[in-house]
Order: sequence, then structure tokens, then C-alpha cells
Amino acid sequence: MPVTFDNRVTRLLGVDTPILNAPMGGVVTAPFVAAMAQAGAVGMMPMAMVRDPDQIRAVRQLTQQPVGANVHARIADRVPVDVLVEEGVRFVTTSLGPVPDAVSRMQDAGITVFHVVTSLESARRALDAGVDGLVVEGAEGAALRGVEEIPMMVLLPLVTSRVDLPCIASGGIADGAAMAAAFALGAEGVLMGTRMLASAEAAIHDNYKVAVVSAASTDTIVINRNNDAPLRVLRTETTAQYLDATIGNAFKELVASIPRLYQEGDLESGFASVGMVAGHIDGVLPVAEIVRRTVAGFGEVIGRLGRDHGLAPVEPRQ
Ligand SMILES: Cc1cc2nc3c(=O)[nH]c(=O)nc-3n(C[C@H](O)[C@H](O)[C@H](O)COP(=O)(O)O)c2cc1C
Repeated sequence: MPVTFDNRVTRLLGVDTPILNAPMGGVVTAPFVAAMAQAGAVGMMPMAMVRDPDQIRAVRQLTQQPVGANVHARIADRVPVDVLVEEGVRFVTTSLGPVPDAVSRMQDAGITVFHVVTSLESARRALDAGVDGLVVEGAEGAALRGVEEIPMMVLLPLVTSRVDLPCIASGGIADGAAMAAAFALGAEGVLMGTRMLASAEAAIHDNYKVAVVSAASTDTIVINRNNDAPLRVLRTETTAQYLDATIGNAFKELVASIPRLYQEGDLESGFASVGMVAGHIDGVLPVAEIVRRTVAGFGEVIGRLGRDHGLAPVEPRQ
């Protein structure tokens, strides 16, 4: 069954397919963003690219399709809004903090802003601050999590039933069935991090991609809770030392050694952000193929649910 999407997210962002890659610094580069956009989905630039106008322009040399960008709340003031507008970047997510003052400046310049939230309370605050939509992040996802650590199955319906804003679900989504589940819970788009790490375009060493593909859903741990910034990572000898420990300054050292992991594939260097959904991922694919399979799986699941529950015309048996 061919799938078409027509909802608040596709209309606001001007795209066919409301699937976003996570804006992963050092992982997502211009060819990655362009491949997502060319597939009709939403290529998201990480903050590191947004701060370098040449990288924004590099994306534009590869695609004229709509693309988006992530901005970290604490440094949102430093975003070159004029460059974003000049290069036709009309969608921004703000994350890792309260809604920044810079949001109204971006909106005045014609940019649609979704804020990343991890609780009903933060979603309500974002609504009051006037954002255009939300990215709702569940605790099962990779990298920095909300201190509340609420899983997607609980958080998403809580937010979508009480806050009237378009929502993009993020955390634990790697295929069409999970996308259908998120839509059943009120989402109008999905964002994938861990699934996109195991992609041909991800600019990380193969060892990291193999680690994602090989990981079971029990192979991730949450560290850095004591800094009020829980971080879901792959369990390694290095990261296991920080489980329930006070990290303090050592956290900065962990962060500083991430480039060795990304470039040389040393999994004991720094930490590899990986979500629980890694347990479902069994191969490295081009991002366009991930998008295609996710949409096909979504269509298959909603078609089957409709048929099984008497809501769609039953095909005559051959
Ligand atoms: C390597 C990596 C880096 C990330 N960096 C960011 C970031 O800079 N800003 C942000 O809002 N989210 C970031 N995320 C988190 C994702 O946006 C998203 O919340 C998460 O990956 C979704 O869960 P999933 O991994 O189960 O798909 C990152 C995720 C990964 C795996």
C-alpha cells in the first residue's frame, strides 16, 4: 500500500516524509544531510555544522530540498540566523536546555522552531514560550537524556494528549512498526539517532557501526546522572567505570577523547552514544534505504492493523 503523509509536520517543514535523522555532531556531514533530503525526508545538521557557514553552504551545493538544523539552547545566541535564512534553512530544533530567547528572532526571520522536551512540564513550558512544535525524547534513546528518564511509551501520549502542538517522537525508533506506534500515540513525525549511526553516510569508524549492529538492547548504560545530564552510551570497560560513579572532571576527558573513537574506531576511547534500539538493528544501510524501508514498514503495519480489525476493505482471497 503506497503511503502518503499530510500532517502538521510535513506541511510546516515542506517535506514528503516526516522522518528526521538525529543531529549528531561529528557523525552527520553535508553528504548525509543531502542524502536524507533527496530521499524526501528531513536532513538535520548538528550544531557543529550550523556554526560554520561553509558547511551549511556545502549542504546547499548538494541539495535544494528542505533541510533542518539543531541548535543547543545555551549557545543559541551565536547562531548565524542570517546565513540560515540566506541558505533556505527554515527549520530548527532547539535542545539541551530551556527554550532560548533566540527562538523569537528565528521565528521572526521565518524559521519554524521545534523544541526538544523530555517531560510534560518541559512541553508545557515550551508551548508557553511560543515554539511551533516539539521533539519528544524518550529515555531509551542514545546520548543526553532528560533527568526525568521517562520512556517514550509513557511520555509521548502524555504530551500529545495535553499539549496542542505537532510532535516528533525521538527515542527507540528504528523501523516502520515503531513509527506506526509513535503515530498511534499522537506523533506526526519521527527522529532516529541509533538507526542512523549504522548508515553508510555516518562519518564514523566502521568499528562504531559494527558495535551498533552487534549490540543487544541490554548493552547500553546510563552514565553522568550525577551531573544532571544522563547520557546513554554503549557499555564498555571504560564507560562501565562511570556507572553510578561521580564523574566530575573526568567527564570532560571522556568527551575530549571521542574523536579517537569516531576516527580510529577505538571503542574504549571516550563513549559511544548508543540507544537501546540497537538490539533491533542488524545491518548498515544507506540513509535513503533506511527511510524507504521505514515508510514501507509503516504502510505494512497500518494496513495490517486495519485489515485485522475490520477497519479496511478486505481483499478478496485469490
Ligand atoms: C552520536 C549522537 C549524537 C547526538 N547529538 C545530539 C545533539 O547534538 N543534539 C540533540 O538534540 N540530540 C543529539 N542526539 C540525540 C538524538 O537527537 C536523539 O535524541 C536520540 O538518538 C534518539 O534515540 P535513538 O537513538 O533511540 O534513535 C545524539 C545522538 C547520538 C547517537
